[in-house]
Amino acid sequence: MCGIVGIAGTQEVAPVILEALKRLEYRGYDSAGIATLVDGRIERRRSPGKLSRLDAVLRDEPLPGRTGIGHTRWATHGAPTVINAHPHANARVAIVHNGIIENFRDLRSELLAKGHKFESETDSEVAVHLISDYLDQGLAPEDAAQEAVRRLTGAYSLAMIFRGEESLLIGARKGSPLAVGYGEHEAYLGSDAFALAPFTNRVAYLEDGDVAIVRGNQVSIFDAKGRPANREVVITNASSALVDKAGHRHFMAKEIHEQPEVIGHTLAHYLDAAGPNVALDNDKLSKVLASATRLTISACGTAYYAGLVGKYWFEKLARLPVEIDFASELRYRDPVYPEGGAALFISQSGETADTLAALRDAKANGQTTLALVNVVESSIAREADIVLPIFAGPEIGVASTKAFTCQLAALAALAIAAGRGRGKLSAEDEKRLCTALLEIPRHIVEFLKSEAKIEALGQEVAKARDVLYLGRGPSFPLALEGALKLKEISYVHAEGYAAGEMKHGPIALIDENVPVIVMAPHDGFFEKTVSNMQEVMARGGKVLLISERAGLDRAGTDAWAKIEVPDADAFIAPILYAIPAQLLAYYAAIAKGSDVDQPRNLAKSVTVE
Ligand code: M6R
Repeated sequence: MCGIVGIAGTQEVAPVILEALKRLEYRGYDSAGIATLVDGRIERRRSPGKLSRLDAVLRDEPLPGRTGIGHTRWATHGAPTVINAHPHANARVAIVHNGIIENFRDLRSELLAKGHKFESETDSEVAVHLISDYLDQGLAPEDAAQEAVRRLTGAYSLAMIFRGEESLLIGARKGSPLAVGYGEHEAYLGSDAFALAPFTNRVAYLEDGDVAIVRGNQVSIFDAKGRPANREVVITNASSALVDKAGHRHFMAKEIHEQPEVIGHTLAHYLDAAGPNVALDNDKLSKVLASATRLTISACGTAYYAGLVGKYWFEKLARLPVEIDFASELRYRDPVYPEGGAALFISQSGETADTLAALRDAKANGQTTLALVNVVESSIAREADIVLPIFAGPEIGVASTKAFTCQLAALAALAIAAGRGRGKLSAEDEKRLCTALLEIPRHIVEFLKSEAKIEALGQEVAKARDVLYLGRGPSFPLALEGALKLKEISYVHAEGYAAGEMKHGPIALIDENVPVIVMAPHDGFFEKTVSNMQEVMARGGKVLLISERAGLDRAGTDAWAKIEVPDADAFIAPILYAIPAQLLAYYAAIAKGSDVDQPRNLAKSVTVE
C-alpha cells in the first residue's frame, strides 16, 4: 500500500511530484523517492522515513527533469532503507510499484541466471529487470512493459519511465488502484484522484490488466489482452485543498472533535428529522434490507468492529441473520453464500485490498453488494452494487475515529430501516430510536467537556504494560475497538474481551498493574457486566469503569477510576462510548511521546493483502 505519482510534464516535475506525494503519505511513510529523466538519463533521489526527509534530500541535491515518477512506501519485502526505497531502476528503466508481486522469487532466479544484478531485497525490483530483459530483446518500451506485466502474478500498480524517452510514462494495474489524470498539456498517473486533484479533475480509473501509455498529454489504454480500451473519463470531486489541523495539535484530535458535526451529516443523509424516521433515497437498498435472506458483513480493523456492532443491531431490530468475518478471512474459508443474500463491506478508505477482494468474492457468488465507505470515489465504492456514504470528511490520522462513529450512525439507521422493512419494528420504536440517534451530536459535545479528566487518566494508562478492555453485547466490539486504538498509537499492549469470557482464561492476567477498562452502559447487560467486573476487582484488578451517572453510582465505589458518559438511550451507547476510548488512547499516546497521526509500522490505507 504505497502511493504512486507519475507526470509526463512540460515543466520541472520533482517539486510537484513531492507535493502530490504528500497527499499520498497516508498510504505509507517508510521511505520515499522520485526519479526523473535528466537529459534522457534516469536520475533519482530516495530517502528512508517520511517525505520531509526526501524534501531535505531534494533541497541538497535538486532533481531537474520534466518526466518523472514518485513513490511513498509502506514496506512489505525488505526493510525501510534507501536501497529498498522506490523508484527502483537500472540505466534503462525506473519503476514505482504498489502491491505484492507474488512470483518475484521465481522471476528473480530466472533473471539472476541471465546475469541481471539486483540491489534491493524488494519484490518490486524484478519488474525493472523483467522490463529491461524485454528491452534487451529489442522490444519498444510499450511492448516491453506489456510483455513484462503479463508475467507478474499477485497485485500491482506500476508507473515507469524509460531512458531517452522524454514525455513517456507507462502505467499498469492489476489488483492495486491506478488512475490516469488528463491535463491540458500534460498527463498524470496516480494511486487515486486525491493525489491528482491539484493537477486535474478529469480522471479515468484503470481496470485490472490495463496498461496505459502516456506520451505528453496523449493517453492510450490497452486491456489485459492488449486490445485498445476506452475507460470513462470522469470529473472527480476530490478536493485540491490540503486538509489542515484547524488549530489542533494532531489530526486525530481534530477528527475526534469533529464527530458531533460529521455524525450530524451522516444522520442527515439517512434520517428525516421531521418524523423522525429513517429516509433512504434508494429503492433498491430498501428492497435489499427488507428481503435479504442473510447479510454477510466484512471489513478490517476498526471498520470490522463497526460491523460487529451492526450485527447486534441488524439481528435485534430486524431479525436479519448476519454473518461477519474479517475481510482477510472471508473468502479463504470458502463461505456458503445463501440465495438472495446481501453482503455489506465497510471501509473508510474504500481501498483496503482485503475488503475489496472479499467484495469481489461475494459478488461472484451472487450476493447483492453494499459498500459503506467514506471515500465515495474509491475502488470498493465503484465495484459495489449499492454505495452507502458516511460523510465523515477526510480522515487523516491513522487511527480511525470519526469514520468509526459515522459508520455506526449509518449502520444504526440501516438496521432501523431493515427492521421496518421486515415488519419487525413498530413506527413508534422507529421514532424512539431515531430520536436517540439525533441526540448523539449534543451528547458528544457535552461529553467532550470532560476531556481534561480523560487526559489525566490517559497519562496513567500510558504507564501500564498491559491493559484489558471489557464489554458485553454491543459494548463488546467497543472493548475490541478501545484496545485497538490504544495499541496502535501508544504501543501499550491491550486486549478487548467479552466481559463474560474473562473467567475462561484471561482473568489469569489480572494483577494490580493491569488496568481493566470496563465499558458498562446502564442497559440490559449492566448487572452481568458488573458481576464480571467484581470478579476482576476480587483479584486485585484495577478497574476504570465507564458508565452513565446511574451506573457509576450503583457499581463504581471500588473502582480505581471512573468516566461518566452522558445519560442517553442505550441504543446509542456504542457511539458515545467510542469517544472516551479514543481520548484515552490519544492521551496515552501523547504521554508515551509516540507519533500520534503516523504511528510506527502502520499506514492509513492498506492496499496489499
Ligand atoms: O480504510 P478501511 O476502513 O478499510 O481500513 C481498515 C483498517 O485498516 C483500519 O480501520 C485500521 O484498523 C485503523 N488504523 C484503525 O484505527
